[in-house]
Amino acid sequence: MLNMTFTSFPVLTTERLTLRQLSESDKQDIFALRSDIHINKYLDRQPSKSLEDATNFINKVNDNIKNRTSLYWAITITGNKNIVGTICLFDFSAEDDKCEIGYELLTNYQGRGIMKEAAEKIIGYAVKTIGLKIFEAFTHKDNQSSTRLLNKLGFKKSANHDQTNKDLFVFRLAV
Ligand SMILES: CC(C)(COP(=O)(O)OP(=O)(O)OC[C@H]1O[C@@H](n2cnc3c(N)ncnc32)[C@H](O)[C@@H]1OP(=O)(O)O)[C@@H](O)C(=O)NCCC(=O)NCCS
Repeated sequence: MLNMTFTSFPVLTTERLTLRQLSESDKQDIFALRSDIHINKYLDRQPSKSLEDATNFINKVNDNIKNRTSLYWAITITGNKNIVGTICLFDFSAEDDKCEIGYELLTNYQGRGIMKEAAEKIIGYAVKTIGLKIFEAFTHKDNQSSTRLLNKLGFKKSANHDQTNKDLFVFRLAV
């Protein structure tokens, strides 16, 4: 049984970061993330083409949070409201206490350990508060930075590929 009964969005903090909910005023930052060809390189998604696309995306994310179908955090450096990346949990399975995790960082903020710090906090929260026990990540076979991150977080590569896309490796963390 997963516990998603929070009344206000769970804002989380780490040594360097504040992980908070998105709002419409983040549209410029979300556009920057979702239209960047380097960030999108290994991601199977429609790039944002306009600020309107970014606003629609933010509204969809916040509806999903309301419906508890996914949780999506903006990653900020504490003291600065701008977004440097995002991290999300989705595809919850109450039967298996399982979910999928996804993440992205602006290229200028990569290589500083920010995502490891954010992901450790989110996973800790998800285990302790929501009751999740298994995390899966689907990452492209050539996505080395994501693979390094998953290894550092303790994920293990599964023998199975994604069933619909052979280029996606499945990584799993069981706590
Ligand atoms: C996947 C992604 C988030 C990884 O970003 P990243 O910056 O490499 O990951 P981290 O923030 O954890 O930083 C780790 C790097 O910072 C270095 N680092 C520097 N200072 C550090 C510190 N204080 N603490 C920890 N690591 C530090 C580490 O050595 C490591 O370098 P390495 O990769 O050369 O070993 C990033 O490549 C990305 O956004 N990619 C595009 C989106 C994507 O593909 N998402 C995957 C979805 S499945």
